[in-house]
Parts: sequence; C-alpha cells; structure tokens
Amino acid sequence: QDYDKGDFKHFMAKEIEEQPTTLKNCINEYVDKINNDINIYNFPWNIKEISSVTLIGCGTAYHSCLMAKYWFEENTTLEVTIDIASEFRYRKNRFKDDNLYIFVSQSGETADTYAALDLCNKNNMKTCSVVNVIESSIARDSNFVLPIHCGQEIGVASTKAFMGQMLVLYILVLKLGILRKDLDKDLYLNKIKDLKLLPKLVEQTLLTESKIQTVSSSFTDAKGSMFLGRGFSYPIALEGALKLKELAYVHAEGYPAGEMKHGPLALIEDGMPVVVLAPRDNYYKKTISNMQEVIARGAKVLLITNKSKDEVFSENIWETVLVESANDDLLPFLLTVPLQKLAYYSALKKGYDIDKPRNLAKSVTVE
Ligand code: G6P
Repeated sequence: QDYDKGDFKHFMAKEIEEQPTTLKNCINEYVDKINNDINIYNFPWNIKEISSVTLIGCGTAYHSCLMAKYWFEENTTLEVTIDIASEFRYRKNRFKDDNLYIFVSQSGETADTYAALDLCNKNNMKTCSVVNVIESSIARDSNFVLPIHCGQEIGVASTKAFMGQMLVLYILVLKLGILRKDLDKDLYLNKIKDLKLLPKLVEQTLLTESKIQTVSSSFTDAKGSMFLGRGFSYPIALEGALKLKELAYVHAEGYPAGEMKHGPLALIEDGMPVVVLAPRDNYYKKTISNMQEVIARGAKVLLITNKSKDEVFSENIWETVLVESANDDLLPFLLTVPLQKLAYYSALKKGYDIDKPRNLAKSVTVE
C-alpha cells in the first residue's frame, strides 16, 4: 500500500497530524450534511430489541470502550457494561438476547477480541464491530460493522485509530439516543452541529506543540508519573498513561482523580510529574481540589484544561496546556492530543523506536 512518512520523522507523528482529516472523513461518512442527521445504514436490528450494550476491546481500544460508556450513560438510558476481551472470554457470562455486544479493534485481528466475538456468536448474540481494517476477521464475523475510516495506521501505539473509535462510538451513541427518544431532537441536532466542528478544534489543539515538547523531558527522566482525571477525562487519563508507558518506557499510572486518597497519593514524591486533566466540565472543581492535594505533596503538575476567559486560580502549578473549548462530550478528543504528543516527545528525547516500541506488536494475534 502506498503509505509513506512524507515529511515526518515517524509514522506516529504523521498519524497524529492526520487526525483532523481522518475525523473529517469519518464524519462525512456518517453525518448527512444537509439534514444534520446521522446515517447508519442496514442496522440489522429493531431498536426495541436492544436494552443494553456491552463493549469489549484490548489496550487502547478498551479505553475507547470506557469512553463510550460515559457517553452512552450521558445520552441514552441504555444499560452499559464494558470488558477487556481477555477477561470477558474466560468469565461466566450471562448472555442476554436484548444486549448488543460491540467489539472495538483497530486491526480486527486481536486474538482475545476475536475469541470474545466468537463466543458471542456461538451463543447467538447480536454482535457489532468497530474496526479500522474492514477486511479483518472481526469485521467478517460480526453481524454488523461500523468502520472508523481513518486509513492505515502503522505506528504500533494507536493514535488516529483511537480518535476514530471514539468518534464512531459517539456517533452510535447519538443515533441510538435519538432513535430511542432518550435524546431530545434539538439537543441531538445541536450535538451534531458541534461534532462537525471537531476536526477544526483538533487542528487548533495540535498547535500546543512547543510547550509539550519542553515539559516532556521531565517525564523522560522521571521514575514514575501519574495521569489523573474524573468523569469524561478518566478514560483519557488511562490512555495518556498507556501511551507514555508504550513509547517512553516510563512507569505511568492513569487514575480517577477522586481515588488518589485510597492509595496512589502515597506514591507522590517531590518533583514527580503528574498530568491533571481538568476541563471546565461538571467535575472541574473537584479535580482542581485533587490537583491541589498532589501539589501540596510535591508533585510537578502539568494541568491540561480548555481555554476560557477565567484563569485557573491555583498556586504552584508547574505548567498549563490549554486545549480548545467544546461541549463536554467532545472535550475528550481535545484532551487526547497533547497526551499523544507528550508520549511522542518523551520517546523522541530518549531516541527510542517510536513506531515500534520494544516488546510490543501492532496486532496481538496470539493469546
Ligand atoms: C496492541 C497495540 C495497541 C492496540 C491493541 C489492541 O497492543 O499495540 O495499540 O490498542 O493491540 O489492538 P486492536 O487492533 O484490537 O485495536
């Protein structure tokens, strides 16, 4: 396939920069430009047949499942569970006919995710997959496929595919929300209008480059680091930590900010870099107060929040990175961008193999 790095040093850098385009392409595939409606053609089930959803994936794909759980709960009345494929497949599952099983996988070939899908198929469950590679085993064997349309991803650590998975899951959430009448029509239309602005907002957020580059050396040299967030920002904290582990080989823990007191606070030492995701959503005040707790214990806090007229009133923040503002649902996409860059530059400083980190594979086709 004709896919090269162009002017970029690494595929990962290229794939990060491509995101405004891949998101736009994907929105164009699903959103009707004229009616502001979402088109999901040939959905094989009657909406009344579905009363709950289970999302399953591995690695980064699992994080998009967790993200989708928050969106489903916010925008629909569906009951939602999520699972890691290698756990789901060995547990005693209570299969339910009115449950939709959604498998998320960039490659569509991950062995555990496939096995989980196979198990559901053998139990005659409703299966749907969110994949990048449409010729894959997972796509082939699921009842219904939602492609993420982001083009080939070469970097082992997923970037544009993560964004694509979140996008398609969010689109599905809105569509099910309106079909089930959980979402009010005006709200639905407004959310679609906002969604169309997302590629531009991601493009603007990509410009946070230089600050991230500067702070990355603190992460490179750290013994460990932490990524904190609440609510919609919690899955992104997990993903940010995973990216840093995968690429820069630095121990990184993603944690719900409110859980810090129950253990991880003991790990905070003088000078430890801690990323705090605190967009100005409903959790903002709570997260800022958790941030103050870690600062008081000596952490060097990199605060990532969205632009606003009001400054953040808190002392001793080491660095702040501002992403664009958007409605709460969309902030996770914007918070993801600086975290991708943080991992990238941390690995770059060490001279590690960014596109092929040690011990990892793009697609894990063995158990
Ligand atoms: C590997 C990759 C990750 C990916 C995970 C799941 O660990 O390195 O980037 O998130 O597999 O892969 P999938 O293709 O199923 O999304």
